[in-house]
Amino acid sequence: MNTIDAIKTRISTRQFTDQPITDEAVHTILEAGMSGPTAVNARPWSFIVIRDKATLDKLANSGGRPCTPLMSATMAILVCGDAERFFKFVPDFWVVDASIAAQNMILAAHEMGVGSVWLGCWPAADRMQAFGEALALPEGVIPHSLIAFGYPQEPSTKQKLLYEEDRVHFEQW
Ligand SMILES: Cc1cc2nc3c(=O)[nH]c(=O)nc-3n(C[C@H](O)[C@H](O)[C@H](O)COP(=O)(O)O)c2cc1C
Repeated sequence: MNTIDAIKTRISTRQFTDQPITDEAVHTILEAGMSGPTAVNARPWSFIVIRDKATLDKLANSGGRPCTPLMSATMAILVCGDAERFFKFVPDFWVVDASIAAQNMILAAHEMGVGSVWLGCWPAADRMQAFGEALALPEGVIPHSLIAFGYPQEPSTKQKLLYEEDRVHFEQW
């Protein structure tokens, strides 16, 4: 699958089979996450890989109904910001860096046939607290997004809206 096809065919998957994701595939996904650009090359992120079923269920329950994909996910990755590594002149760039890492992981997984869904965390205070407590995050480590992964239960039939002419402006607004 080439990059354009991966970007255009990715969809959120919310029901997964029991098929486990190999260690090698998890490594490839993480490597994709760490391969994105970061402001001043700060690389201000850390990742928590969660495969324990009880922990996935706990996260699902603590995140509420929108987090039910975690019930069938075989793996999830929490993308975190490391405050110690934030660019001191523009600390908020960490949010952009973490978002790029999350999307890179989603696309790498998709290329390998692994489905996923992004479960937003930052800046939703309730989820940040719930995920932070469930995963024992230390001070200065900020939960950004939780990505649920697994092999899709059914192939998607979703028609994606790819291009909207009226969202594009050339040269000026
Ligand atoms: C910041 C963010 C937060 C999201 N949070 C959730 C969520 O809590 N639960 C969920 O099922 N999907 C969540 N999604 C996935 C979106 O619902 C999904 O990307 C959107 O509906 C478009 O569908 P697609 O991913 O299939 O193209 C989130 C996506 C983003 C980018």
